[in-house]
Amino acid sequence: MTTEHTSRLPGFYKRSLAERAAMVAQWAGLSSQEQSTLLGITGLNAQQADQMIENAVGVYGLPLGIATNFLVNGQDYLIPMVIEEPSVVAAVSNAARLFRAGGGFTASSDEPVMIGQIQVMDLQDVYVAAGAVMAQRKMLLAEANRVGGSIVKHGGGARDLQVRPIVETPVGPMLIVHLLYDTRDAMGANAVNTAVEHLAPFVEEITGGRVNLRILSNLTDQRKARAEGMIPASELATETLSGSQVVRVIVEAGVFAEVDPYRAATHNKGIMNGIDAVVIATGNDWRAIEAGAHAYAARDGYYTSLTKWWQDEDGNLRGFIELPLAVGIVGGATRVHPTAQLALRIVGVQSARQLAEICAAVGLAQNLAAMRALATEGIQRGHMSLHARQLALAAGATGEMVARVAQKMIEENNIRLERAKALVNELQEEQ
Ligand code: MEV
Repeated sequence: MTTEHTSRLPGFYKRSLAERAAMVAQWAGLSSQEQSTLLGITGLNAQQADQMIENAVGVYGLPLGIATNFLVNGQDYLIPMVIEEPSVVAAVSNAARLFRAGGGFTASSDEPVMIGQIQVMDLQDVYVAAGAVMAQRKMLLAEANRVGGSIVKHGGGARDLQVRPIVETPVGPMLIVHLLYDTRDAMGANAVNTAVEHLAPFVEEITGGRVNLRILSNLTDQRKARAEGMIPASELATETLSGSQVVRVIVEAGVFAEVDPYRAATHNKGIMNGIDAVVIATGNDWRAIEAGAHAYAARDGYYTSLTKWWQDEDGNLRGFIELPLAVGIVGGATRVHPTAQLALRIVGVQSARQLAEICAAVGLAQNLAAMRALATEGIQRGHMSLHARQLALAAGATGEMVARVAQKMIEENNIRLERAKALVNELQEEQ
């Protein structure tokens, strides 16, 4: 079986799991041993798990899927996604196909600059203290770099300082010092935390205050990624709606999330369905990404959508996403988890920034998929057929029988476990 280097793989979903794994292995140049890891035959084992966390008692598996059709900045990507929720991988692949018809995604990202925070208390005058810290900026940056290790060797390290006096608080005034630190291809939590812990006594000395917390911020708004794309209206037509009608209802759905936090929470959850799945697959810290995304969505004092959707002058649909995306391709779990290593090989990125750009494109595509379904036929129809398949499996169906049992339950509009069991019995007797 050969795979041309395009992520457009029609019928990929109809292949067997083993065939799909072989195609992806060929795409990424994986050995047969690595293919076994992909299939979960090998992979993270209990001994490795024991090294990763405390009180380990085992390993917990989740499905690893591949999203197809992604074209980002003119390059084809297969996207590894770890997720337990049905429909997400199929929906995002479908959406990526629609964006592909409009030329694919254009994505960009900031330099990988993290923020480390130092909280200074017991100050006579927070403004004087702020001035004193800035006067020692050069020395403090040099000190931060002195403990920077491999990140500094790779061209990263301390870039700047910011001072943020916060006067009115229930515990008195505080000065917050931000260390801006370029972590290159690492997520960089360890490097940033090491640097701010190292700087704390210097800051106390300079300000005469007392340092309390020293920790990175997950609102990594210096380290954002963004993606934009167009879908020709004609691609969106359904049996009952014209393309421009679908553009209109999607734009209405997008604005709903911009103006209503109740809707924005669900809308952004759908975006994170896609982003988290890539973040988990590549061994990154998805809680950090979630925290950053939602804090950024509330940056103006009200919670809003992470995306914007509009109709362009040619009548086509355009979408844009921007959010903080502190992901790494070296260090942390990306290094120790064998499947995360393979996921990085499959997605084939050369830098943390490139991975962040891919995540942004995935978030935009996932959002489109959800809104398109919600604004047209609703999501339950698609969900029902997956639900039917899951019931068929739970009832003991295997191989081709799964689809037959699911199809029959859908036709009968009777999607229940008892019916699935009865159908499995009938089919087994026929065999
Ligand atoms: C379900 O996991 C995600 C959706 O609710 C997202 C959305 O409503 O936009 C479908």
